[in-house]
Amino acid sequence: MKSLLLLFATMGLMALASCTGTKPVKTIENLKAGIKGETTASAKYAAFAQKAKSEGNDAIAKLFEAASKAESIHAANHSKALAGLGEKMDPFTPVFEVKSTAENLQNAIDGESYEVNTMYPQFAADAKAEKAGNALKSITWAWDTERKHKQFYENALEALKTNTQNTLPLGYAVCPVCGNTYDKANMDKKCAFCQTSQDKFILF
Ligand SMILES: [Fe+2]
Ligand SMILES: [Fe+2]
Repeated sequence: MKSLLLLFATMGLMALASCTGTKPVKTIENLKAGIKGETTASAKYAAFAQKAKSEGNDAIAKLFEAASKAESIHAANHSKALAGLGEKMDPFTPVFEVKSTAENLQNAIDGESYEVNTMYPQFAADAKAEKAGNALKSITWAWDTERKHKQFYENALEALKTNTQNTLPLGYAVCPVCGNTYDKANMDKKCAFCQTSQDKFILF
């Protein structure tokens, strides 16, 4: 009887050890950093949109509004993935500065570049190594979207500098599932990242 109890106790400890051993610790930290980054970007772009509007840069304001929505979708997807791993985020306050629209666009380009070239490649590699499938999906959706945001922002800054804002998209569409962002005049019938139908897209 005693040895049977010992056996059960040992098995219990082994099961616990294997559980904690497989916990994707890097991915959990990465998702938390991602939620902070996306939530901050969403709030910052909303403020940048207001600033652009006040300067009469309506086309650029629309881009900031659409991107703000996309980043909030990324934050929500990362939060779901984090919850699926049994973790949650501590509350925090986004910190950012609003400057001129040209400076705000450069700030946005720098932020997107960091996410595209440094942050999300590392997060994706960690999620793959830790076999965190849901996290990898959320990370990939955000990574692919930020690449498009970076290009939209670069075009917008160029147009602002050359006073050719009339060449910018008149509006944008955001996929409510993955945050993918389109020039409204050039959407796919189904989201290229997650296959959500175009009629569900949020328009700006
Ligand atoms: Fe973005
Ligand atoms: Fe999508």
